Amino acid sequence: MSKTVDIEWSKLGFSYMKTDLRYVSTWKDGRWDEGQLVEDNKLSISEASTALHYGQQCFEGLKAYRTKDNKIQLFRPDQNAIRMNNSCRRVLMPEVPVEKFVDACLQVVKANEHFVPPYGSGATLYLRPFVIGVGDNLGVKPAPEFIFSVFCVPVGPYFKGGMAPVNFVVSDYDRAAPFGTGAAKVGGNYAGSLYPHEEAVKKGFQDCIYLDPQTHTKIEEVGAANFFGITHDDKFVTPKSPSILPSITKYSLMHIASEYLGMGIEERDVFIDYLDEFKEAGACGTAAVITPIGGISYNDELHVFHSETEVGPVTKKLYDTLYGIQFGDIEAPEGWIVEVK
Ligand code: PLP
Ligand code: COI
Repeated sequence: MSKTVDIEWSKLGFSYMKTDLRYVSTWKDGRWDEGQLVEDNKLSISEASTALHYGQQCFEGLKAYRTKDNKIQLFRPDQNAIRMNNSCRRVLMPEVPVEKFVDACLQVVKANEHFVPPYGSGATLYLRPFVIGVGDNLGVKPAPEFIFSVFCVPVGPYFKGGMAPVNFVVSDYDRAAPFGTGAAKVGGNYAGSLYPHEEAVKKGFQDCIYLDPQTHTKIEEVGAANFFGITHDDKFVTPKSPSILPSITKYSLMHIASEYLGMGIEERDVFIDYLDEFKEAGACGTAAVITPIGGISYNDELHVFHSETEVGPVTKKLYDTLYGIQFGDIEAPEGWIVEVK
């Protein structure tokens, strides 16, 4: 490491700080340009950009991890590229080739290497790729130009408490429509979640749980993370729905549960009235990692899983294995880890 930065890594939360360089590429006349690293963290775009008025944009989130032997690695960046392209297709934006996406992430991490937190600090470098529609446009139609950019920020835990269980409350609001944009990582889904989130926090919860928008009987998402429950016979169960964001962490945990821990896995309906089927539950995602769910409040009753204060043993094993793979202590399945050289 040539440069150093004065950061108390173990005190980091999930908040913005400007790092040195970010990647920016522009799509114009039917193609992406080469892209470059720039110092400026401000974008200058037309006041008539579709991203500003019609929500024509999408984003991703992934992390870089420093290993014990001081290597830096990305976790499944190709999966974020594939998902970002699904989002781009859904809102009529040009796709970013997977190699270009991964290369942009590698360039950004390399250029901000000194912001990658030390092994053991519990912190990581969060990467935020995004695509936005820009250029002069007035009608509701796709933009004439697009920007693909990636910036990075060192972060600690997303939910206060990290691996300590937290409580969630079921929201009366929906985050997405049954056949809307719930499976795409587009900003509109998050704008709609700000108010329900604030309501949940005011009631003393970390965030809210959304039920399926069609019947309001099944769990969909836990704020900006997917839900999983552990049954009394040690099965990993997670909701299946076309309006859930397909979490890369969730699919990785399903693989870990089945291939590393020998557990059964099920992706299926999870009814809010049958929480008793689970002895443990958690929220999972890049930012959330695994956040154990202490309890879920529904119709003013708190359903407590393993404990409101202690992490359940299966959740702990899942967390330790995922953490071990991401930080290079446990051998990863083929293709999951990309080293930053
Ligand atoms: N659900 C929502 C709504 C999210 O924003 C995220 C975060 O990306 C997730 C789930 C978790 O997805 P992943 O594990 O790919 O980060
Ligand atoms: C992520 O986990 O990457 C997220 O997108 C969650 C949130 C910060 C939006």
